[in-house]
Amino acid sequence: MTSPITAPVLTAPLDIAHEQAAAATAPGVLARCRALVRPSLAAAIDRLHPWTGEMAAFSLGWCGVGGTPDSGASEGKGVRQALAVLCAEAAGAPGESAVAGAVAVELIHTFSLLHDDIMDGDGTRRQRETVWKAYGTGPAVLAGDALFALAVQTIAEAPGAHTAAAVRCLSGTLSGLVHGQAEDLLFAARPWTGPGAVRPAEYRAMAELKTGTLLGCAAALGGLLGGAPAGTVAALEQAGRHLGVAFQAVDDLLGIWGDPAVTGKPVHSDLRQQKKTYPVIAALAGHGPTARELAELLNSPFPLEDTAVRRAATLIEAAGGRVATLEEAGRHLDAARACLSGVPLAPRAAYEIEMLLAFLLHRRV
Ligand code: IPE
Ligand code: IPE
Ligand code: MG
Ligand code: MG
Repeated sequence: MTSPITAPVLTAPLDIAHEQAAAATAPGVLARCRALVRPSLAAAIDRLHPWTGEMAAFSLGWCGVGGTPDSGASEGKGVRQALAVLCAEAAGAPGESAVAGAVAVELIHTFSLLHDDIMDGDGTRRQRETVWKAYGTGPAVLAGDALFALAVQTIAEAPGAHTAAAVRCLSGTLSGLVHGQAEDLLFAARPWTGPGAVRPAEYRAMAELKTGTLLGCAAALGGLLGGAPAGTVAALEQAGRHLGVAFQAVDDLLGIWGDPAVTGKPVHSDLRQQKKTYPVIAALAGHGPTARELAELLNSPFPLEDTAVRRAATLIEAAGGRVATLEEAGRHLDAARACLSGVPLAPRAAYEIEMLLAFLLHRRV
């Protein structure tokens, strides 16, 4: 560790220079971390077979089909790489020390999206066609596999004394993420109501696995590569897992009420596919007439037409599903904050992590 770690995480850091605090914004923090990680991410992707490398670059918005340069496309928020960098800084180390971890988690994230879009049958992401739509399902599966392998290789080759622990962290995360995706797919086949319905606790466990494990891994790898003590690494990982549940709940909201022109993803796809998302689970937990009408609509044996999907969205909101989801996300963000406040973290990084948490709750993308 290169600088003293003195204070617990704060929401209003008194010891940060005023102008620094004023200049910092969550998008600014994400951009700073992206710029730090980008050269190593690009170098890693350069190691892929040119074809799988092109699909990875397409997914990141770096090129079009055929490899034509494309600088206007969206490449994703980069939340996981930022968390890795910030957690290394929170451990008092330079952000550079976490770059291998940051690259690995962005590669895993990209892999998971390529395969997720096939599983979910979604045709758009980041304002463009999904990889399976643009290149075909077989090639997209292969590109995902290539990214998965490259992530493991990247972390296994990371310099420093913590490589074995970092590989353990990443491999456990991969198992967790895949378990979570299995639950997500199985939940879609379960009924909306009755004894077989998905309960909120089951949703939380699934969201923690499919989304929380990777955010927890990003935070833990940052701490680990930044030389944090074991207790701090564990707290960072737990905070990341809670952030993951909150993040997924907000993603579920955006899947119903988001603007596709902003999110770059389809709206109402989760509802059509019977995905057991938090807003619907929460809405159906009510016993009033609105929840009953919603259940009747969703239990229809026929695929939901456009009008029915729009009606379902209205009923979910009227039954309190939207508000309940924001509350659920807020509870998990508070739990993340509680994990962070229990360990000593460098104040500026702690402040930037807090900014990121607040930004992610209210995001529109
Ligand atoms: C989408 O993740 C998948 C989820 C885990 C909810 P992001 O919302 O981080 O996707 P990008 O990288 O910004 O596109
Ligand atoms: C998020 O899946 C988790 C993973 C991709 C592993 P979702 O299916 O909920 O995410 P989006 O909405 O497609 O980004
Ligand atoms: Mg999906
Ligand atoms: Mg999915």
